[in-house]
Amino acid sequence: MSETTGSRRTQVAIIGAGPAGLLLGQLLARGGVDALVLERQSAAYVLGRIRAGVLEQGSVEVLGEAGVGQRLLAEGLPHEGIELAFDGERHRIDLAALTGRRVTVYGQTEVTRDLMQARAAAGLRTVYEAADVSLHGFEGSSPVVRWREGERTHEVRCDYIAGCDGFHGVSRASVPAGALRTFERVYPFGWLGVLSDTPPVSDELIYANHPRGFALCSMRSRSRSRYYLQCALDERVENWSDERFFDELRSRLDEAAAARLVTGPSIEKSIAPLRSFVAEPMRFGRLFLAGDAAHIVPPTGAKGLNLAVADVRSLARALISRYRTGDETGLDAYSERCLRRVWKTVRFSWWMTTLMHRFPGTGDFDQRIQEAELGYLVGSKAASTALAENYVGLPFED
Ligand code: APR
Ligand code: PHB
Repeated sequence: MSETTGSRRTQVAIIGAGPAGLLLGQLLARGGVDALVLERQSAAYVLGRIRAGVLEQGSVEVLGEAGVGQRLLAEGLPHEGIELAFDGERHRIDLAALTGRRVTVYGQTEVTRDLMQARAAAGLRTVYEAADVSLHGFEGSSPVVRWREGERTHEVRCDYIAGCDGFHGVSRASVPAGALRTFERVYPFGWLGVLSDTPPVSDELIYANHPRGFALCSMRSRSRSRYYLQCALDERVENWSDERFFDELRSRLDEAAAARLVTGPSIEKSIAPLRSFVAEPMRFGRLFLAGDAAHIVPPTGAKGLNLAVADVRSLARALISRYRTGDETGLDAYSERCLRRVWKTVRFSWWMTTLMHRFPGTGDFDQRIQEAELGYLVGSKAASTALAENYVGLPFED
């Protein structure tokens, strides 16, 4: 029989210690707002996740404001362009020349590690392996969050709950079904990803459209590469030896890139599904959803982490303002403000996915249409600027 230990109190209970939850905790702490972070998994498990690491300039600035920009500045790789490969050739999109902004390649794992270390260094509490987290009373003014640690049940009373617990979390699931409207597009393919301690095939990312399917050449550092191949939804990792993976990757790249490919043993190999998902609204009384708890984008545009940062930046500013001055306009505007950016980013990620991938049931005509759109894009300053503006990140509203 579990027993409830003493009830704690905090101002904001944050569910989830991924990038969204940890960044929110960090920004709130710097704004003088007390928060408790509750995470279902262990810290090691959270750090074991391999996720995209392309940071918009705005995200880099927010991480700097959060006081975790040092290693990012020292080790992050500034990228002023990306390359599009199609019809046997590669074309560079000069992000910096077109927008005056750039992106930074820095693994999400490292962002999470920096945030974890900063939180621990500040003596701020994170409960890892918090089991059976449940949310109560967020429609009223005195929410309560309960969880289990071993046989002991705990609870915390709070003013607000931040649901930063990802797509499969408990927060969105705790909202009465009728209060939520969801929008979803599941893509008919997945991404087979490989991590290898080999030098990247190019200094910048290569997005390749090919009749055999999409491929992406990315990196974590100048000595660690990250590669992806579009694959069928029923593909299995065990069917892909390293040799088969790199042979298929070469076949989808232009000759020059294929010739530069340095192969090596995979240190991680996995298949991820692709979906677009948005839940509206992102606020229910005293519960606010942020990051993957509210939306999912296909990784094509590298927007998942950047959208989470934008949500959290807005929520932190609103909560700090509410505690400092009693002004609740930021909280009242949170959902609509975030959703304007979310839907523009979901559109961009959908557009880039649709342009770059080979959809089942399509044929040579569709391939030519994609190549024609890509040929127009790389030859048009207006079209290239439109891609670049979205890729480097749209400006924050406030
Ligand atoms: N109770 C407590 N914690 C939970 C629960 C729960 N019921 N369910 C999930 N969590 C934790 C997960 O273990 C995870 O550590 O919430 C965290 C959610 O983190 P993410 O899934 O990384 O989501 P988010 O922080 O919004 O970051 C978005 O992560 O998934 C990528 O592509 C996405 O880059 C984007 C980023
Ligand atoms: C990655 O490095 O994992 C990555 C980079 C860019 C993307 C997606 C994934 O668009």
